[in-house]
Amino acid sequence: MDHDDRYLHGPFAPVKEEITAYDLPVTGRLPADLNGRYLRLGPNPLGVEDPVTHFWAFGAGMVHGVRIRDGRAEWYRNRWVRSTEVSDALDRMRRGLQPPAFLPPSPNIHVLRHAGRTLALSEAGGLPHELGYELDTIGEHPMGATPDGSSANAHSKVDPRTGDLHSVAYVLGRPFAQHIVTDPAGTVTRITDIPLPGDLPFLHDFALSENFVVVFDIPLTFSMDAMRFRWNPAHQAHVGVLPRAGGQVRWFPVESFYVSHILNAYDDGSTITVDLIVAEGPVDVADPGGIKPRLDRWSIDLHAGRLEQRCVDDRAQDFPRVNDAYASRPHRYGYSAVTPVYGMQFTPEGPHPDDAFTNALVKHDLVRGTTEVHGFARDAAVGEAAFAADPSGDQNEDAEDAGYLMAYVADPGRGASDLVILSAQDFTGPPVARVHLPARVPLGFHGNWIPDA
Ligand SMILES: [Fe+2]
Repeated sequence: MDHDDRYLHGPFAPVKEEITAYDLPVTGRLPADLNGRYLRLGPNPLGVEDPVTHFWAFGAGMVHGVRIRDGRAEWYRNRWVRSTEVSDALDRMRRGLQPPAFLPPSPNIHVLRHAGRTLALSEAGGLPHELGYELDTIGEHPMGATPDGSSANAHSKVDPRTGDLHSVAYVLGRPFAQHIVTDPAGTVTRITDIPLPGDLPFLHDFALSENFVVVFDIPLTFSMDAMRFRWNPAHQAHVGVLPRAGGQVRWFPVESFYVSHILNAYDDGSTITVDLIVAEGPVDVADPGGIKPRLDRWSIDLHAGRLEQRCVDDRAQDFPRVNDAYASRPHRYGYSAVTPVYGMQFTPEGPHPDDAFTNALVKHDLVRGTTEVHGFARDAAVGEAAFAADPSGDQNEDAEDAGYLMAYVADPGRGASDLVILSAQDFTGPPVARVHLPARVPLGFHGNWIPDA
């Protein structure tokens, strides 16, 4: 199957309309104290792109949200993130006119809340777009903007202790990235340049520990000829460690690897522990179905100048998350997804022999070294699950896993998706609740449970 077929059909197929639905049916019982919105972002091409040249991660961003209050699922909304270009194209299409042949993507990777604003975030360059409570686009917002034109980007992270937002931003064509700290009021308080004198690597995600920022200079570099990131075996891979307080980056050469996402990181002042999703190269990001990502733990010993890499779980998985109250501090649990985004439901011999591991959410106990798997039906495409802390105190509040996992899961029989809510402490038990949405939610990227203030 051609790439354009795979990523424009099946669980990826874009939806064609924006929907607003109220009082959604629920199977199970929504926790009464859980008040807020679950928001998730992903690419949803407007249908004007050329299917032959279409790149699956490109396309206008669309946010899908469910609002939960007092034990009810009040609404579901899906909305394109309206950059000026997307807004113009939608306007033209509504009037029966031809939209432009080329449409720059609007933010389509991640959505988070900082400094009282809900922000849809982009990859390299591109300002965040602020979203209203009901997912309308308010407009571009200069969160994390620097004089060099960087800004808060896709995998920006909030430190739960300081409330600061940390970003590692890069812009195509520039020989440096920037670590940007934005305080809880939304003011940029520190900018540190990270020199990247060679080919520009794909800096999709980074690790944040209590004292350090860790970046991954991987051999997937931007090709000006191809105008995209390509595997580059000549590029020496490095792990870069930057003190949060600024200063010089210390580079550790490592063997060639692909880093997809960071679960979490922490340090004791001299050793940094990073749990992350990696894959062996070569990797073609235009065809994630060919990537087999696994969960690793990397330890960086700053005194000895040594980096150790250890595989934690070699079963294909991605979209790792932690209880964000533990972000940049020691964690015990992590959650990942087994989705058809990657070739993860297959082994080289065919479908994974463990049927539960073809479409699943996984809870890792990284202290005990055990996993629990919550499997879904074979054709149910499960996406990233975000952790929602239990606000009621009914569960053991001190426990890191006192809360819920929320993810969109396809129900092919109904031709629509559910918002599935699992108890993190009863991970393999039946879902606490399934909110039945009126439409299908295509597989997308990242999101968050955003409790009401
Ligand atoms: Fe990502």
